[in-house]
Amino acid sequence: MSNEKMPAVIGGDPTRAAGRLAGKRAIVTGAGSGIGRAAARLFAAEGAAVLAVDRSADGVEQTAAMIRAEGGVAIAQAADAGSDADVQAFVQRAIRELGGLEVLYANAGVSGGDVPIHEQTVALWEEVLRVNLIGPFLAVKHAGAHMVAQGHGAIVCTASVAGLRANAGGNPYSASKAGVVSLVQTAANSFWGTGVRINAICPGLIETGMTRPIFDHARAAGHEDKLGQINPLQRYGLPQEIAAAALFLASDEASYVNGQALPVDGGLSSTLPFKRRVR
Ligand SMILES: NC(=O)c1ccc[n+]([C@@H]2O[C@H](COP(=O)([O-])OP(=O)(O)OC[C@H]3O[C@@H](n4cnc5c(N)ncnc54)[C@H](O)[C@@H]3O)[C@@H](O)[C@H]2O)c1
Repeated sequence: MSNEKMPAVIGGDPTRAAGRLAGKRAIVTGAGSGIGRAAARLFAAEGAAVLAVDRSADGVEQTAAMIRAEGGVAIAQAADAGSDADVQAFVQRAIRELGGLEVLYANAGVSGGDVPIHEQTVALWEEVLRVNLIGPFLAVKHAGAHMVAQGHGAIVCTASVAGLRANAGGNPYSASKAGVVSLVQTAANSFWGTGVRINAICPGLIETGMTRPIFDHARAAGHEDKLGQINPLQRYGLPQEIAAAALFLASDEASYVNGQALPVDGGLSSTLPFKRRVR
């Protein structure tokens, strides 16, 4: 069975160059650190030309330099992923300088800290929602316009298990990530019939710049072995494990995956709270 909406690569295309993103052009935001850096490097290693975006100019320059040293193609762009003008400009730069755009990974995010709810300000909520939710919306809007016009494209957003359940982040952070889960569901339907796919990843506890205080605190207290113990794999995750999921969702291997929020969390979000029997 086939129809004209099926991508040509289903089942493998022997004429395709090596690499799961060979020939594609990709934007990765939050690429100056952690998950975004790991994803930018993996996408490039799999054949994509990458526009790496971060508000940290040093961080994103380092990522692009790593990619080039590894034999890949990368441009660094310092920008605010929550600014309409910046997002519009870096999407246009990718199209102009990379020669097109097939993949967008909207990954930049901020934690918003650990402030008691009765002490949180409107300014805190506005900033966390601006970067974590309006940022992905802007990326979807501007990259999506190009992808709809060309009739194909793959968008991945980083949500979080905090967007599915409580106790994995602060109130504004968790609300922003629940918003990202909703964004990919509604955007997949807004892109109805266009050939553009959009999905989210919900990471569990991953060692990155964002979670460094948790890891530093646990290590200083001699409790590193306690990190990640509340999921069935009983360990925390690595940025490369989220990058691998992003690569899958960005690639044609995920050609029938759309509108989903995929937990990559060691099984954390599969469980209810319980007390394990001592054996
Ligand atoms: N680390 C975890 O355990 C975890 C779990 C679930 C979700 N996440 C999400 O993963 C994503 C990546 O975070 P990370 O864990 O790699 O942390 P990180 O702090 O190592 O990386 C985040 C990057 O985003 C950049 N950034 C922040 N605000 C920006 C803005 N306005 N414009 C451009 N860049 C901006 C930062 O400079 C940083 O380089 C975030 O969306 C985060 O919420 C992380």
